[in-house]
Amino acid sequence: MREDRAINQQLHSIGETEKQNLSPVNQSILKIWGPSRLQGNINISGAKNSALPAMAATLLSSGVCRLRQIPRLADINTMGKVLSALGAKIKQNGNTLDIDASNLDNPEAPYELVRKLRASFFAIGPILARLGVARVPLPGGCAIGARPVDLHVRGLQALGAEVHIEHGMVNAYISGSKKKLQGAKIYLDYPSVGATETLMMAATLAEGETIIENAAQEPEVEDLANLCIAMGANIFGAGTKTIVISGVPKLHSVDYTIIPDRIEAGTFLIAGAITNSEITISPVVPKHLSAVISKLQSVGVEIIQEKFDSLRILPGEILKSTDIDTQPYPGFPTDMQAPFMALLSVCSGSSSVTETVFENRMRHVSELNRMGANIRVKGNHAIVQGVPKLSAAPVIGTDLRASAALILAALAAEGETTFQGLQHLNRGYEEIEIKLQKLGAKLQRVDQVKENEISPASV
Ligand code: EPZ
Repeated sequence: MREDRAINQQLHSIGETEKQNLSPVNQSILKIWGPSRLQGNINISGAKNSALPAMAATLLSSGVCRLRQIPRLADINTMGKVLSALGAKIKQNGNTLDIDASNLDNPEAPYELVRKLRASFFAIGPILARLGVARVPLPGGCAIGARPVDLHVRGLQALGAEVHIEHGMVNAYISGSKKKLQGAKIYLDYPSVGATETLMMAATLAEGETIIENAAQEPEVEDLANLCIAMGANIFGAGTKTIVISGVPKLHSVDYTIIPDRIEAGTFLIAGAITNSEITISPVVPKHLSAVISKLQSVGVEIIQEKFDSLRILPGEILKSTDIDTQPYPGFPTDMQAPFMALLSVCSGSSSVTETVFENRMRHVSELNRMGANIRVKGNHAIVQGVPKLSAAPVIGTDLRASAALILAALAAEGETTFQGLQHLNRGYEEIEIKLQKLGAKLQRVDQVKENEISPASV
C-alpha cells in the first residue's frame, strides 16, 4: 500500500517514542479532506490546565469537592487514577467530578501514572501539606523538553520540608512533631506555572505567611487560587507576579466551576482564520486571549466580541505575515505556537517565530513542510515563508499542540490528509472531531484494519 510505505518512511524519521506510541491501540487515524469552509458556533470546554491542578487541590480538603466543566480527556482520567491511588474517592457525572479526599492515606503516587502525566507531580504540594510526607516519582522529560522540577523542590525546601531525590523518586517530609510546613518567602528563578501552583497549594495549610515572588500569572493559576479560596484558603495576588498566602488549619468542601480552555478557544479561532471561515466560540474569557487575538488581528482577520463570553471570527481578505515570540502570560502562549505556525504557513510574506519557554517545541515543522509549507528552523527560531496553499499528506503528531497544528493545516490543505497521533489529541481536546464535524469539516476517524472499506470517493 502506498500509504504504508510513506508511513514506514516517516516512522524511520520519527523517534523511538513515537514508534512505541504507535502500538496497535493507537493505530486509529484521522482522515481529513480539505480545503474546508467552516461555519456555526462551537462550545468551548473547561480548561485542561485548570482541571488538572484543581483535581490535585481537592487533596487539601477534608470534605467532598465538586468540580464542574471538567473536560473528558485522557489526562483527566490519568489524574483521577493518581488521586484514587492516594486514597481519594471519585465519582464522575458527565463534566462534573465529585472528589472525596477526606480519607487520604497513601503518600506515594504510582510511577506508571506520573510518567504518563507530568502534571500529576503538582500533587506533591497538597499531599505533603495534608500528610506531612509525600513520595512522587520524577515526571521525567517529554517531547517538548526536559521539564525539570527543581523550582518545585527548592520551594518545598524553603517551606521547611526535607526533600531527597533517590532512584527517580522525590521523597519529601516534614520533620518535627507538628508535621506542618512553615510560611516562607520564595523567589522563583522562572515564573513556572507548575511550581507556582504546587507551592501555592502547599502554603495554604502551612503555618504563617508565604510570599511567592516572580510567580506565574497564567489564568489557570488564578483559577486554582479562586478554587482554594472557595475552600477556605487565604490567598492574595494570584494572577500577579507576587502571591501572598496566609496558612489556615484546614480547608473544607466546595462546589466550583473551572474556567473555559483558552488554548482550545485559540485553536478554534485559528481554524476559522486558516479556512477563511466565520465561526463563533463560547464560553470564553476574552481577556485570557488578548495576545492571541492581537496577533490574529495583525494577520488580518477580524475578531468581534459579541457577548461577555463569546467571540466571532470573520475571514480576512489576505492573510499577512507577523512575528511571534512565546512568553509567560500575559505574553503569547507557548501552547498556541504550533497552531499559529500552521496559520502563518499560508500568510503572505515572511514570519519569524521564536519559542522561548520550551527547548524542543518545533517538531511540527517537518510535518508542516511535508504539507507544502516553507519553514526553516534553527534551534528555537523558525522563519515561515508563506505559501499560497498547502497540500494534503500523511502526517504524524509528536505531541498535543503539534497535533492540533497538523489538523488545522489539513483543514486548509487540498486533498486527503492522513493524521496519526490521536493519542496526543485525546489528551487535550475534548471531542475535537465531533466539534469540527459540527462546523462542517470533512473528517473521519478510521481504524487501520478497516481502512480499505472507507473512502470519500465511494461514499
Ligand atoms: C504548564 O506546564 C502547562 N501544563 C503547559 O501546557 C504549558 O505549556 C506551560 O505551563 C507553560 O505555559 C499544565 O498546566 C498541566 P512551566 P508546566 O513549569 O507547569 C522550566 C499543554 O500543551 N522549569 O511553566 O510544566 C520548564 O522546563 C502543556 O497543555 C524549570 O526549569 O510549565 C520550562 O522550560 C504543555 N524548572 C519552563 O520552566 C521547574 O521546576 C516553563 O515550564 C519548572 C519549570
